[in-house]
Amino acid sequence: MDAPTIQAVRGMNDVLPDEAVLWEHLEHAARKIFAQYGYRNLRVPIVEATGLFVRGIGDATDIVEHEMYSFEDRLNGESLTLRPEATAGIVRAAIEHHLTYERPQRVWTAGPMFRHERPQRGRYRQFHQLDVEALGFEGPDVDAEQIVMLSRLWEKLGLAGMSLHINTIGDPDERLAHRRALVAYFGEHAGALDEDSRRRLATNPLRILDSKNPSMQSIIAGAPKLVDQLGADSASRTHFEGVKAILSEAGIAFEVNARLVRGLDYYNRTVFEWVTDRLGAQGTVAGGGRYDGLFEQLGGKATAACGFAIGVERMVLLLKDGGRTAESVPDAYVVHVGEAAAPLARTTAERLRDAGLTVTVNAGGGSIKAQMRRADASGARWALIVGEDEVRSNRVALKPLRVAAEQVSLPPETVAKHIGATLERAE
Ligand code: HAM
Repeated sequence: MDAPTIQAVRGMNDVLPDEAVLWEHLEHAARKIFAQYGYRNLRVPIVEATGLFVRGIGDATDIVEHEMYSFEDRLNGESLTLRPEATAGIVRAAIEHHLTYERPQRVWTAGPMFRHERPQRGRYRQFHQLDVEALGFEGPDVDAEQIVMLSRLWEKLGLAGMSLHINTIGDPDERLAHRRALVAYFGEHAGALDEDSRRRLATNPLRILDSKNPSMQSIIAGAPKLVDQLGADSASRTHFEGVKAILSEAGIAFEVNARLVRGLDYYNRTVFEWVTDRLGAQGTVAGGGRYDGLFEQLGGKATAACGFAIGVERMVLLLKDGGRTAESVPDAYVVHVGEAAAPLARTTAERLRDAGLTVTVNAGGGSIKAQMRRADASGARWALIVGEDEVRSNRVALKPLRVAAEQVSLPPETVAKHIGATLERAE
């Protein structure tokens, strides 16, 4: 009897090699630009104590209420959670290792996050983020710098049509005043609220503004806006003006979206999202903002901070939709026939790799014809052929597959140079 097959868990995807090259292309571009702006890599665990997210993200958020993968440690019963995002873990690590005691830090990390959401295009249960955090910076310059860095990344990746939404959600006292105003306003319209929003009215009224329910939109449109609650010379208004001024100076178009509140509770002042209309409902490809209170909330010293995360799957969808393909073809494929030929095939391949070329050596035998078919299917630019004649004369035959060049026969030490020259010409 055939054993039943086991499939991937719903909402958790395999990334197969043809698509993974696009991931690498994106990750490479992002890593490069983060480094150019002074961000250094840091890695934190995928599993953290559940309390970190409850305290960090907020117990009335969708993530904490409905979406966490939590389980008990089988030894001591401690509640642990697969991280739904990276910021809380990074702040925990920064506090634990006194990372910002001497100087502020620009850091980034990348990896899988887990949220038990309803899977659909652009929304998964295991997804990946490129996450960037500036820890210990107060001014609006860092908020703006991160936004500018992202726009440079879109440019590098050839992505057009990204729009930037920004907003300020003020400081805690302003948020409290706004919250009171919202409770009063929505309280007056309680009859028109849906069930979710009625519940939110008591726990997290700000999130009502984020409701996608069409029947709620006109009430939401009339709700008091936080920007209107900020005093003319309040620190958070000045901060917001500062961010906007630097963005304008950098020539970056933005829309101030008073409804933008984000789904995590740790934010204050600047919040932003980069959005595209090419991904339907899952159009937010990157989001973030300032979270000056999170260090203290997690038991650390008060430390201003700001960051964002890019959704890797959504970016890859965009790159694919844009017809983007990344190449992962070898420069050469080595065909070898007969036992005596294998060592020369291998040493020649190593010489080429030493010279920086990518080389696939045929494995698993086969006739010359079968191996040449594989060479062609690999997309290689050149086939290198090693047979008994070549072993005897210590030469390798080079057959062009995807370069305009003649077939030649060369001693192994000059093969790399010959191939290198033809590839340079092709580029
Ligand atoms: P977030 O808005 O929850 O923020 O997620 C950031 C990005 O991750 C989203 O804009 C989206 O592209 C992607 N994303 C979120 N959930 C999913 C999902 N279920 N499937 C696919 N992609 C998804 C944060 O996580 C904050 N930690 C960002 C941040 C960093 N704020 C300050 N520092």
